[in-house]
Amino acid sequence: MRAKRYYRDMLKDDILQCLYSEQSFISGEALAERFSCSRMNINKAVSALRDEGYKIEGIKNKGYILDKADMLNEIALKSMFPDFDIIFLTQTDSTNKVLKSLEKKSERITLCLSLVQNGGRGRLGRSFSSPSGGLYFSILIPSSFISDPALITAKAAVAVSTAIEKNTGLDCQIKWVNDVYIKGKKCSGILSEGILNMELQRLESVIVGIGINVNSSRSSYPEELWDIITTVYDESGKKTDRIVLLKDIITFLLSSQNDFISEYRKRCFILGKKIKYVRNGKVFSALAKDVDEMAHLVVIAEDGKEEVLSSGEVSLNLKSI
Ligand code: BTN
Repeated sequence: MRAKRYYRDMLKDDILQCLYSEQSFISGEALAERFSCSRMNINKAVSALRDEGYKIEGIKNKGYILDKADMLNEIALKSMFPDFDIIFLTQTDSTNKVLKSLEKKSERITLCLSLVQNGGRGRLGRSFSSPSGGLYFSILIPSSFISDPALITAKAAVAVSTAIEKNTGLDCQIKWVNDVYIKGKKCSGILSEGILNMELQRLESVIVGIGINVNSSRSSYPEELWDIITTVYDESGKKTDRIVLLKDIITFLLSSQNDFISEYRKRCFILGKKIKYVRNGKVFSALAKDVDEMAHLVVIAEDGKEEVLSSGEVSLNLKSI
């Protein structure tokens, strides 16, 4: 019984792999011959794949073809990022947590993606709502791949903004320090965490966790978020291919392009506005003046003095999340 199930699962994986690499129709006979099994077994495996959500079209006298649009699975990720270690999950608590708990640290970049998170983590100990349809991934980058770890979060915010714009035409803004907004509402958040090598007293790697509300709609989120978040789908009216978005973000993030601060500044919608920020538990008002080359926020405090904020949270008269 177990051997039968094992064979069925293997056959399913083989068929999926084959349909994924094929650009045109492939007949049931050809599949049966390739995997030395009956047509009946091929039919059963194809319908099991359809039950799992794969869009496989079957046409008489032509065969099968796989619709690869917006296909997020292990095979798609492995073929898109052949040099990475890939962890694909249909559900997990938090992809950042999965990467942090890896025992064996790889020399390679590791990408962990989950279709849903039930314990998504945000900055400052908050949660990050992660229903299906979104893009939730964390990438563990050994420090040898990063020229300036302190700027990786700002670079990720620019990567997300430019990728959404390229794929949808929507304008994206950045709320310092790392939230991406469309039309005044948050559609993406980024949580970066460093892993230290305590013995050598140096940064071993960085985990950049990115969550984007892509093909979900606002009604899939808790009601208290409806006024402050949005989704790419709600704003564009169209579904976006998440794997293409992912590829664009990662390509930018790992590129040697290091002149992204001007792009960050252009998108930073709090500049020139009155803001509030918290320091040592006290709330201060200030004018947001600039973002410096380290992606720090330069503000003019109420006493006229210039201050530089390197992290934390600022708010306009917006509700902050
Ligand atoms: C924030 O808005 O405060 C940051 C949110 C970061 C969410 C992403 S989703 C993928 C990765 N896994 C997590 O648990 N968090 C990050």
